[in-house]
Amino acid sequence: MLRDKYCAEISEKDIGLNLNIAGWANKWRDHGGVVFIDLRDRTGIVQVVFNPEINQDIHQLAHKIRSEYVLQIKGEVRKRPDGTENLSIPSGQIEVIAKELKILNDCKPLPFIIEDETDASESLRYKHRYLDLRRPVIQRNLVIRHKAVKGIREYLDSQGFIEIETPVLTKSTPEGARDYLVPSRTNPGHFFALPQSPQIFKQILMVAGLEKYYQIVRCFRDEDLRADRQPEFTQVDMEMSFINREDIIAVIEGMIKKVFIETVGVELQMPFQRLTYHEAMERFGCDKPDLRFSLELKNVSDIVKGSSFKVFLDTLSKGGIVKGINAKGLAGYSRKELEDLTKEVQGYGAKGLAWIKIKNGFESPIAKFFPEQSLKELAERLEAEEGDLLLFVADNEKVANDCLSRLRNELGRKLGLIMEGVYAFVWITDFPLFEWNEDEKRFEAMHHPFTSPREEDMVRFMSVETSALSNFRASELSSLRAQAYDIVLNGYEIGGGSIRIHKKDVQDRMFQLLNISPEDANAKFGFLLEALEYGAPPHGGIALGLDRLIMIITGAQSIRDVIAFPKTQKAICPLSNAPSTVDPKQLKELSIKLDIVE
Ligand code: AMO
Ligand code: AMP
Repeated sequence: MLRDKYCAEISEKDIGLNLNIAGWANKWRDHGGVVFIDLRDRTGIVQVVFNPEINQDIHQLAHKIRSEYVLQIKGEVRKRPDGTENLSIPSGQIEVIAKELKILNDCKPLPFIIEDETDASESLRYKHRYLDLRRPVIQRNLVIRHKAVKGIREYLDSQGFIEIETPVLTKSTPEGARDYLVPSRTNPGHFFALPQSPQIFKQILMVAGLEKYYQIVRCFRDEDLRADRQPEFTQVDMEMSFINREDIIAVIEGMIKKVFIETVGVELQMPFQRLTYHEAMERFGCDKPDLRFSLELKNVSDIVKGSSFKVFLDTLSKGGIVKGINAKGLAGYSRKELEDLTKEVQGYGAKGLAWIKIKNGFESPIAKFFPEQSLKELAERLEAEEGDLLLFVADNEKVANDCLSRLRNELGRKLGLIMEGVYAFVWITDFPLFEWNEDEKRFEAMHHPFTSPREEDMVRFMSVETSALSNFRASELSSLRAQAYDIVLNGYEIGGGSIRIHKKDVQDRMFQLLNISPEDANAKFGFLLEALEYGAPPHGGIALGLDRLIMIITGAQSIRDVIAFPKTQKAICPLSNAPSTVDPKQLKELSIKLDIVE
């Protein structure tokens, strides 16, 4: 080893020792002849002093050092002179008086400074990700990620799970995003799909009698990217046989509890809160509510029915709803601020934003359309006090909920309601089985088509009229609930799973209701369907989004900060320059001719 000790681990206990240390020159200062260098390794930094009175030669050499030079230093650990201690670093009580110096490598001038806070562009940082990764904050994130994964493996092992790998070159899976395809050279015109999840294989492992499977596995989805979405991301994927929902919830809660203790030393309150999907939509307008603050939405359709405000009445007559939220204490908002808020909500898809200020009575352009009693009822429903601002959206249920839930998150931030360091977990249960796809005018599986209906809904599921399929108003279909559950943390969906269908006739029925022909079902998922006919046990599982979980644990703003080599918003890796064009010879071998449409 070129070192005796890591930089940040040197302490007052080492005073008087001569130690070898190695790392990068983080900072360089010349103070009246004495040169100070902060030497950095993975653990942190230690201050090294080059004094001409101690060693003239290496003091000379030290003048050659520039940022990020790689150094090996031998020196004596000494207590820092009084008043020069640095309380912000672990080694801040001591310094190393250099007696020997080896410059192990130099470093070109840096494209950006290596500091936690950086204003370098993402593409520049990712192009030189090896420099970006030297930033202590990212290194800390990766260490936490490592500890989490280690804890997860230990925990699942202790619970009798076995880790099994599933193929990466495979067939399209049912998660519903666009696939990444890989052409097959040996089968011209045929393609593998990279898995969006190991869903089908893990179910087949249950049919195979493995009983408790897990895998920390890369999944691939070609979808629009956001701060919490990458084209390749990692799931903690699991599946169990002969279990029910509560068993899965218990495993996940135990695992997350351990992860928080072992990564950030936080003891979580157990068990996690639960909301049904219906309740979450009613109260928060979304299925991933941030429960670090309350600020609930209220349906006021019944109250505004008695007004003469045309916008609201028209919406109600078309089967829509009117919902409101109380922006506490914002009655002082100016016209301009209200206009900006309206624009913001229109950006989410609302047609407008109606408002009532509670300010010496009711101040609002729409107040004149309301009897006094209705205004009072609105104020009461929204628990309004003097100084509050009530905001309303009238639209179909989906749009009203979506806009107000986004407004709720925005207000949570604006009003400073989100407490740092709080981890608000919630299980969302009893999802609908089907979801209406407005673009394609048909019902889709809300989770995926292998999700079992709830036992109570099974008879209706098996007997519902198939003519209801293409009719949005088919309440029969939309009222069927699934044995599906999501786990949400601070407003992020960090995992989702379900109890699966394990009987062939139920699975066939599911495809029938989704308007997938037996031929199509066979072509896509035939290998699972056939397996279900050979003694499939009842089973279910879940997958956690590991990147999202680590993002929240570390307090990172994006999952890109907890992934060593992430892709940009445009799904590009600026470091390797992937994706890239390929040699025409390779295309020929793959029997592929390009016809690029601009
Ligand atoms: P689902 O599609 O809900 O379920 O995915 C599980 C979890 O993976 C995370 N996730 C993502 N993270 C980062 N980038 C992405 N593009 C991305 N997409 C999803 C989310 C999500 O909750 N096979 C089922 C699981 C099951 O039924 O057992 C599945 O994949 O945190
Ligand atoms: P208008 O009658 O269109 O001038 O609208 C009067 C007020 O109602 C304005 O503040 C609009 O932003 C608001 N408004 C219009 N449409 C809606 C809607 N669908 N939901 C809530 N408020 C609306």
